[in-house]
Amino acid sequence: MAPDESGAKRSVDVVSEADRLEAEAAAALEDQTVLKSVLYVSGEIDPRGGVAAPAGRRRFLIGEDPRLPAMPEAPTIADFFALRFGPSSHLLQSARRARKAGCDEKVVLACLLHDIAVIGFIRADHGFWAAQLVEPYVDPEIAWAIRMHQVLRFFPDDEAGYEYPQMYVDFFGEDFEPPRWLVAEYERARKHRWYMTARQITLNDEYSFDPNAVVSLDEFVDVIGRNFRQPEEGLGFDGSPAAHMWRTIIAPTRFL
Ligand SMILES: [Fe+2]
Ligand SMILES: [Fe+2]
Repeated sequence: MAPDESGAKRSVDVVSEADRLEAEAAAALEDQTVLKSVLYVSGEIDPRGGVAAPAGRRRFLIGEDPRLPAMPEAPTIADFFALRFGPSSHLLQSARRARKAGCDEKVVLACLLHDIAVIGFIRADHGFWAAQLVEPYVDPEIAWAIRMHQVLRFFPDDEAGYEYPQMYVDFFGEDFEPPRWLVAEYERARKHRWYMTARQITLNDEYSFDPNAVVSLDEFVDVIGRNFRQPEEGLGFDGSPAAHMWRTIIAPTRFL
């Protein structure tokens, strides 16, 4: 078989497998309608109009979404990486870089978790969301640094060796000015005793985008074990102030 033919056959196989999985998931949904949260579609629709349910539907999905992989009863942070988060190579590479640079374990864990909101929850204000997700389970310094890395990314620090990222110039334009609230957060962070911890995330963050690097979460099992207090009941089920956020990641389309 010519290589292009085998490639074509493989892509047909992949498509038919995807179709089969989709059909299975649709069957599992039965007559349960999935209604998206306003936040998921705001902008694509005018939120003032609300998200309309399809006419004539009366049953709604109130459990986990059968189109997503099932989560264990007591999920760990590793389960979220495996079953709910998007590609995590950037986080793994940042953590590896921090470790190689001889950073404290707190910084290594902070690097490993700093963008979990981007890959698994909400992109806007991702540092703040990520910090809130992990706050009950990590040292306060780690949570603070994760929150503030988002802010510090916009402000150079020559002494620490951090330049304003060229990527941000490309993404947001030459004339982008950080908004008022971001400047105010920066000014507060600059005077904070943990400023350098957050700054270290930005130093390991900036140069960590190699699409070909192979890194696995296994490399950080020890760091996670020592610095992330995994709740026995599982993330989402321990009654912590962040449990509801983890549950929303587990079942993002639950009606209520
Ligand atoms: Fe970030
Ligand atoms: Fe990042």
